[in-house]
Formats: sequence, C-alpha cells, structure tokens
Amino acid sequence: MTTIGTTIGTAEWVMARCDDLTRHSARPDALERVYLSPEHAQANTAVRAWMLDAGLDTETDAAGNIWGRRAADGTPQRPGTPGEPALVLGSHLDTVPDAGRYDGMLGVMLAIAVAHRLRDVPLPFALEVVGFSDEEGTRFGKALLGSCAASGQWDPGWWEQTDAEGVTLREAFARFGLAPERVSDAARRPEDLVGYLEAHIEQGPVLESADLPLGYVTTIAGARRFVLTVTGEARHAGGTPFSRRRDALVAAAHLVTRIEELARATDCLATVGDLRVEPGAVNVIPGRAELTLDLRGRTDTGRDALWEQIAAAGHDIARERGVTFEVAETHRAPSTACAGRMRAAVVTGIEKATRVPSGAVLGLWSPAGHDGMAMDAVTDVGMLFVRCRDGISHHPDEHVDPEDVAVALDAFTAAVLALAEEAR
Ligand code: GLV
Ligand code: MN
Ligand code: MN
Repeated sequence: MTTIGTTIGTAEWVMARCDDLTRHSARPDALERVYLSPEHAQANTAVRAWMLDAGLDTETDAAGNIWGRRAADGTPQRPGTPGEPALVLGSHLDTVPDAGRYDGMLGVMLAIAVAHRLRDVPLPFALEVVGFSDEEGTRFGKALLGSCAASGQWDPGWWEQTDAEGVTLREAFARFGLAPERVSDAARRPEDLVGYLEAHIEQGPVLESADLPLGYVTTIAGARRFVLTVTGEARHAGGTPFSRRRDALVAAAHLVTRIEELARATDCLATVGDLRVEPGAVNVIPGRAELTLDLRGRTDTGRDALWEQIAAAGHDIARERGVTFEVAETHRAPSTACAGRMRAAVVTGIEKATRVPSGAVLGLWSPAGHDGMAMDAVTDVGMLFVRCRDGISHHPDEHVDPEDVAVALDAFTAAVLALAEEAR
C-alpha cells in the first residue's frame, strides 16, 4: 500500500489510511464492505502491510479478523503467542451500506499508529492490534461475529444464517478460505489478555455540544435485533374489496408507527431499518412484509420490557387485520460497563492530551454497539470517544477533524502508558 506523503504514527497518516480503505468497497459510488467479501480480504491485506510497517507481526485468525502483535520488549511476535498477556487495541473494518469512512476504521488506524509510536518503548505486557471482521452485522443480521469468535462465544446455530443472496455463513467461510470447523481457534483466553481498549467516533452529538474533542465511555447499550414477518394474502389490487383484504404491508406499516410510539415513551431506541414487500408489484396486494427491528437500551431490563410491548402490539395488529405475525431474533448483546481500571486509564489519557482536569473529563454512555460488548466476556474493556461533526454516522458525511484525531492519538497513547504504569 502507498503511504507516500505521510509519516506513520501521525494523525495525518491515520486520516490518509482511512481514506485509502474506501477503495475496498463493493460499490464504486459508495463505501460498503461486509463480512467475508472480496473487499474484506483486500482491506485485511492493506491493514496487514500497515501493521508490519508499525513493527508488528501479523496473522488472520480463523474468523477473518486481522491481528498484529509485538512482545513486551518491542520485538514483533506472532499474535496470540501464549505466556505473555497482551493489551489489545482495535476496532472493526466492516461497514454498513453507504457508510462513512471512520466508523471502526478510525479506531484500527489509531491503534496501529499507537503501536508505531511505542515500538521502541518496553511495556510490561505484549501489545496487539486487531481489525475485527464483522461488527455491524450488515451481511448476516447477527452483529459482532468477529469479536464473538475472538471471545469464544461463537454459536453453531449461526452457521445456517443466510445473506440477501441466500449464501449461508458456512458457505461464506469456505469461499473466503476459512474452515468453519476451526472457528474456535480464533478464541482468546482471559489469561492471555490484559484488556481491550478501543477508540471510536462518538456517532452522536454530545461531545460536539460540550465543545470537547474526546470523552470516555461508561457503558455500552444492550442491543437486540429481530426480523419480523407479517404474512397476509397476495391478491388482485382491482378485484379485491377492502373487506376481503389481508394486506401484509398495511399491517406492517401500523406496526412501524406503533413501534416508534412505544419507544418514544421510554429511554430506549427502536428502529425499523429495512422493510421488504412481496410480491412487490404495483397491482398486487402485498402478501408478505418482512421488517428488521433494532432495539437498544441503557439497561437490558428496559430494552426487554420495550420488546414485550412491541411483540404484544405485533400480535394485536395481526389479529385485527387477519394476518400472521412471526418473530426471529437475530442478535442479542448485553449492556456492557467499561471496567473501572480501563476508564481510569482513558481519563488519564484524555487529561494528559487535552489538559482538562480529570474531574472535568466527560463520561458518556454509548447507544451504538461496539466490539467491546463481545470482548467483555474475556477481558476488561475501555473506550475513548472522538467528536464527530454533527454527530452523524452510518452515512457518507461522517467526519472527524484532523486536530481531534491528533489529540485522540496522544490520549490513546497516554492511556496505554497509564495501563503500563499500573501494571509495573
Ligand atoms: C454499530 O454501529 C451499531 O449498529 O451500533
Ligand atoms: Mn457502525
Ligand atoms: Mn463501529
């Protein structure tokens, strides 16, 4: 990969590499890079080269995550080498459709830049960098597949999940050159880990409103995702009076507005992000509607209580309209608290980089999901949030200021050194 014009380990380098990665996209006009796609392989190849430049040895694991590692003394070392626990820095390399260039990628590039900055600094632990392969769940509906594999939480029930073309996860593994039966090789053991630290754009407006470049994460929201299917009867749009209709789309539309109404009465978030109608013809009453539902809550109990209300509403609407209502849960992740020692390290990092006194460093909860939700099963998790313009994310207009990236790089480096200090 070309790294001309920028010096590795600088904020300019981080920005330029996030730009470079936009080339690896399924679409010429937009950024879309999903799990186990040719673009995923290309991005891993590019990232591997940058990890090598930063003085790390590299390896792609059994679930397609790309890892780099140096030993405590700074020499490159094979990722996952047992005997010397590692602090892991990273984020994800997959995207939503028509994505921005920083969600996930910024955290991986910052992690590589930190590794480069510290390449000659002995640490009391090994340092690893990871580019997780699937955080978004864009292709198979189930999010956090990469970090679930790395944290030993792979569920064999996922193998038959399909993408929009009907390709199963098992088939996609084989096409990518991975062996499904070896996925458990990707699992990391708690005794081999010191912690997991991730930098990420905030994806919301809080830091911008507070006029601050950085914040630390307190808790990551609990999430659940569903596919809801409404089945009625496809019939002639002209020959079928209203009294005889069982219109799946009208029932689904009522449900969508009811979902928003129910969620607005809580402190949770609910989003119907996709709606497919069959047979999808102008003169045929819709016989089937399939909608996705994404639920998030600061607490799992709040989120689950909202789901109970939505499920009851779905059954009520189905009864009133003579259609059926079915539910398939595709993803569930518990709300995750960042560990006290990891929060403290991030706060120290922010304090050092911005000169804000630690009492004034802003803590935020994250309604967006992150790989730390999975990694929490095997190690302590901490997160650094970076201000993004207008809080916009999951959109090509995603933007971070290079000045903020420069402070983030200083803070992320200082956070690693604070953990080193604590471990000595
Ligand atoms: C990941 O970006 C999510 O959907 O929260
Ligand atoms: Mn995202
Ligand atoms: Mn992300």
